[in-house]
Amino acid sequence: MSPRLVPGGTDRVRRRDRPIRLTVDGEPVSGVDGQTIAGVLLAAGRTAWRTDPAGEPRGVFCGIGACFDCVVTVGAERDVRACRRRARDGDEVRTQARAEDR
Ligand code: FES
Repeated sequence: MSPRLVPGGTDRVRRRDRPIRLTVDGEPVSGVDGQTIAGVLLAAGRTAWRTDPAGEPRGVFCGIGACFDCVVTVGAERDVRACRRRARDGDEVRTQARAEDR
C-alpha cells in the first residue's frame, strides 16, 4: 500500500477526488473518498498509531487485513483494521493503546 496520491487533474482515468474529513483522536484529518483509514493516516504522514505490548510502534504491516497491527476504534467499534476499512466522511477514529485492551 502506498500513501501516494495521484492528483485528480493528472489521473489518466479521470478520477475525481472527493475530499472527506475525519477526526483521529479528535484532530481533523483530510482524505479522499475511496481511501482506507490506513491510507488516510499514511497520506497524513502517520506511520504508527498504536503500540505493541513491548511499547513498539505499530501501524500498517501487511496491508491486507491479516496481521491486525493496524487496529483502531471507529466510532464505538473497536479493533477495526484500518487497512481494510474504507474511510467515510465524518468518521471518528481513535487510536488504541495496549493498556485499554481488554
Ligand atoms: S496492516 Fe495487517 S491487518 Fe492491517
